[in-house]
Amino acid sequence: MKAFGTVFTDEMTISWNNGDGWTNPEFVPSDSLTLHPGAHVLHYSSTCFEGLKAFRHPDGSVKIFRLDQNIKRFAQSSDMLHLPALDTDLTQQMIIDAVAKFADQVPDAPGSLYIRPTHMGTDPAVGKAAAPSATSVQYVLLSPVGDYFSGGGEVALRVLLNEEGMRCAPHMGMIKSGGNYASALGPIMKAKQDLNADQVLFCPNGDVQETGAANFILFDGNEVITKALDESFLHGITRNSILTLASDRGMDVQERELSVEELLERAAKPGCEAALSGTAAVLTSVGTLIYRGQEYQVGSGQPGTTTRDLRKALNDIQWGLADDPHGWLTTIPVIHKAE
Ligand code: PLP
Ligand code: COI
Repeated sequence: MKAFGTVFTDEMTISWNNGDGWTNPEFVPSDSLTLHPGAHVLHYSSTCFEGLKAFRHPDGSVKIFRLDQNIKRFAQSSDMLHLPALDTDLTQQMIIDAVAKFADQVPDAPGSLYIRPTHMGTDPAVGKAAAPSATSVQYVLLSPVGDYFSGGGEVALRVLLNEEGMRCAPHMGMIKSGGNYASALGPIMKAKQDLNADQVLFCPNGDVQETGAANFILFDGNEVITKALDESFLHGITRNSILTLASDRGMDVQERELSVEELLERAAKPGCEAALSGTAAVLTSVGTLIYRGQEYQVGSGQPGTTTRDLRKALNDIQWGLADDPHGWLTTIPVIHKAE
């Protein structure tokens, strides 16, 4: 299996905004994009994206998970970067049309089709360092994928707690913007090289926040603890889905501050579990926390029953193996190809 996100369908949908509205979306080859070398995005990182998935159900149909929420966050990211406003109906149609055209490339379970809508500022103006781009382009890339973490749900991750740094500037946290990922790379690479850590959990001033590409959730008996939403971190749609499923099961969901001190104290208990949630990460166990040169095992150090159950409950809805009581799936119209 090739690395997550390195295989693409041959075409993508694209629409340009020249400052006076969006062009009619088109299908174009997905292997190139022509931009002026002075394009705003290339100099001042005026870019945001989304990550969502389409799943093949046992009856052959294809469904997109939480399309509305991803489009809402995409529009919000675009606004917060002062990019031209998205027309959310148009974006939705671009996503649906792209998935419908390549429906035959949606892998069966346990795979899925990763959908990457992207929006970027295109003004050819290198002087606009303190001004937004008036023009932009949006496109929808598609990538058939398997697991993001090579161990799938079976291998628990090693995670370094970082109190000194931050993933990104606090006012950028809830924007799904490329620059935030570049900003987190330094500490992540160092943690990989020095400590063989899989991920860094950013805990600025002792406040447990999120990793470079996923949210963090603690399960302690019936309690589910995760940071309350604020503008400093990404409002994960998987996070919201897992909290909803946990609450459906009568678990005590607490969205609140979680300190490193409390995390380490709870992690030492035998039944405690921790996990990373995200579209790519799904719900992946954290088995070891590394803090100030010491390693702390979380519960048994292995994927626990709560994490496994909730991951399965989420996947079962996504793959059509369970009902969808919250209406999270959007059905893609089937396009019958000429023989
Ligand atoms: N936090 C960050 C920084 C991410 O990149 C992601 C991945 O998308 C998440 C959290 C989880 O968000 P979601 O569950 O919407 O995919
Ligand atoms: C996602 O989960 O959609 C992300 O954006 C994370 C990325 C590392 C694939």
